[in-house]
Amino acid sequence: MTSQRQSPFLLDIRDVTRAYPLPRESVLRAPGTVQALKGVSLQVTAGRSMGIVGESGSGKSTLARLAMALERPTSGQVLFEGRDLNALSAADLRAARRDFQMVFQDPYGSLDPRRAVWRTVAEPAAALEGASRRQQRDRAAEALAAVGLGADALDKYPHEFSGGQRQRIAIARALITRPKLIVADEAVSALDVSVQAQVLNLMADLRDAHGVTFLFISHDLAVVSHLCADVAVMKGGLVVEHGPVRQVLSAPQHAYTRTLLASVPELVPPPAF
Ligand SMILES: Nc1ncnc2c1ncn2[C@@H]1O[C@H](COP(=O)(O)OP(=O)(O)OP(=O)(O)O)[C@@H](O)[C@H]1O
Ligand SMILES: [Mg+2]
Repeated sequence: MTSQRQSPFLLDIRDVTRAYPLPRESVLRAPGTVQALKGVSLQVTAGRSMGIVGESGSGKSTLARLAMALERPTSGQVLFEGRDLNALSAADLRAARRDFQMVFQDPYGSLDPRRAVWRTVAEPAAALEGASRRQQRDRAAEALAAVGLGADALDKYPHEFSGGQRQRIAIARALITRPKLIVADEAVSALDVSVQAQVLNLMADLRDAHGVTFLFISHDLAVVSHLCADVAVMKGGLVVEHGPVRQVLSAPQHAYTRTLLASVPELVPPPAF
């Protein structure tokens, strides 16, 4: 582990590319590739949540997986608190994972249906700390309380909860290691609008009370503007525009951002008189 920090940012994504092989069409043809990311640089400062918006296929989820070191970039670097995640030993990476956790889109698919809630919630900490069953349950109860669920949830199973409650459980699971960064990939997109608002408010509370910084991926600029200080707009594997949310919303520089804004009428800034 190096003591010298190579970056002042919480997350520093430097010129990453990611190519995926396409299915081979014929044994006689070389397989093609799809360039999911074409050279993306993005810096997240601790305490300033960042939104990522962009159309389907623009590379948002790929960027999230690279930021979480669930995948390696084809080229470029991902630094978390100044350390290149892809240069860490397996043991150091496992330990570093305590500081960044992920919440996925699907509140039905992301929780193991055969496991009691307390086991699912405690799992990331249990893997790191090997705590006793009692301690794990206590930690899980604490994390569930932080997302507004009572201790009666501990021994229930995912099917006993609504979609919004399941997303709370997924967030409790992410919180259990007291992470500095949570990457939420379309984490509220599958929820009804009223439930969306509740989960967003919960995230804002966690941001303010626990100092969690979010990397919040959404196709919805309105949702991003509630939670995030900064926003990056992606298109075709590139970040085409980024900056403080207010600035990007009031004076979009890129034509694509203006198109995105035009689809959310209530966000269009009033014309100047
Ligand atoms: N594992 C993979 N194998 C092959 N191609 C992939 C893989 N993951 C992503 N891609 C391709 O990379 C591109 C970017 O996909 P990605 O899922 O990152 O987009 P996205 O912005 O998250 O889209 P959405 O809004 O639909 O979730 C797409 O062309 C996609 O088909
Ligand atoms: Mg995606």
